[in-house]
Amino acid sequence: MLNYSSTIFRLCFLLQVLLVVTPLVSAERCHPEDKKALLQIKNDLNNPTALSVWNPATDCCHYNQWKGVTCSAQNHRVFALNLSHIHIHHGPLPIPSSIAALPYLSVIQIMSVSNLIGPIPTSITTLDLNHLQISNISLSGTIPAFLSNLNNLITLELSNCNLSGPIPPSLISRMPNLDGLTLSGNSLNGSIPHSFWSFSNQFLYLDLANNRLSGYIPKSLENQNVAFVFLNDNMFEGDASFLFKSNRSTRIDLSKNKLAFDFGRVESFNDLLIALDLRYNKIYGKIPEAIKSLHVEKFNVSHNNLCSKIPTGGVLSSITDASAYAHNKCLCGTPLLPCSRDS
Ligand SMILES: *[C@@H]1O[C@H](CO)[C@@H](O)[C@H](O)[C@H]1NC(C)=O
Ligand SMILES: *[C@@H]1O[C@H](CO)[C@@H](O)[C@H](O)[C@H]1NC(C)=O
Ligand SMILES: *[C@@H]1O[C@H](CO)[C@@H](O)[C@H](O)[C@H]1NC(C)=O
Ligand SMILES: *[C@@H]1O[C@H](CO)[C@@H](O)[C@H](O)[C@H]1NC(C)=O
Ligand SMILES: *[C@@H]1O[C@H](CO)[C@@H](O)[C@H](O)[C@H]1NC(C)=O
Ligand SMILES: *[C@@H]1O[C@H](CO)[C@@H](O)[C@H](O)[C@H]1NC(C)=O
Repeated sequence: MLNYSSTIFRLCFLLQVLLVVTPLVSAERCHPEDKKALLQIKNDLNNPTALSVWNPATDCCHYNQWKGVTCSAQNHRVFALNLSHIHIHHGPLPIPSSIAALPYLSVIQIMSVSNLIGPIPTSITTLDLNHLQISNISLSGTIPAFLSNLNNLITLELSNCNLSGPIPPSLISRMPNLDGLTLSGNSLNGSIPHSFWSFSNQFLYLDLANNRLSGYIPKSLENQNVAFVFLNDNMFEGDASFLFKSNRSTRIDLSKNKLAFDFGRVESFNDLLIALDLRYNKIYGKIPEAIKSLHVEKFNVSHNNLCSKIPTGGVLSSITDASAYAHNKCLCGTPLLPCSRDS
């Protein structure tokens, strides 16, 4: 689970497994209801060139023939729909609500489709979705509250979609299986709802980077033991050091916020942490000795208010690039200039 790096990686893996087990037989397996729905979607998108391979005379479940369509090996129903990198002629057109006419659909991926716009059709709440990924499509407006009805989601991504307004407090509170949430690259504002984390321990991946979120990062997040936390490029303030305590934390990016806490009070980091980016905040105090035990590949505390001699030994001997510590109040020692008492 710990190589979890992105929704896309996970989906590719999932689909490969499904494809490998799909036997190649000549009889048409595509369910007529699914074929009808797919052709309706193609029509609703103005018959884009990229979907010319969706030919009514061929089998929609045939391996790799209908671009973006994956059927389940068990029941030969359309299981995943990937509408990505398509150019739509004569748009803009809304996301087709006919997607909901694929009753066995579990995975929806819509990325970088030019001339496709929001809103997300309400009809998708009739589906039993496990993965919903919409990226680089201008949805505009706020995150629709009806998404909270998708109770079986495992991953939810709405990134670079020109969404604004608050994160609805109820958004993920009824998604007990959710293990990844990505809302990066929008204009979301307000704070992270405190009631957000009322579910179990499997939540792994949180990416709210590049928004206008503010306020404190809720302490309730501490108990979630999130492994990947990307909250960079927002306006969060206060203390976020509790995130370092998570016994699963692997990559943490809190850069470009207004966080202010005493770094020297952090007593331990976990062994799994390999990237810690704290650039451009108002973090003060010392660089904690505990940092030496880390196995970080990426570490950057530049542009803060830190002041101490940089501890020596452990992983710190491999950080030879002074820019990782630059622009602080009064850090000194290798790889920066020697502290005045030493010299
Ligand atoms: C979806 O389609 C795009 C473009 O064809 C591709 O880059 C991406 O890997 C696909 N996603 C999956 C999960 O197969
Ligand atoms: C976003 O989608 C547009 C097409 O609508 C494409 O030209 C652009 O390259 C995409 N950007 C990214 C970062 O994928
Ligand atoms: C982004 O959303 C705002 C309002 O929410 C809208 O006025 C603007 O046209 C949208 N931009 C694009 C590129 O869709
Ligand atoms: C969020 O942005 C909207 C305008 O897009 C504004 O009306 C609202 O007051 C903002 N909310 C917060 C909490 O900043
Ligand atoms: C991580 O911490 C949680 C409590 O916060 C605990 O339930 C879990 O067993 C811990 N996992 C490991 C691997 O130590
Ligand atoms: C640290 O961050 C600063 C500011 O973005 C950057 O200029 C510098 O190259 C980074 N250094 C390292 C070692 O990552």
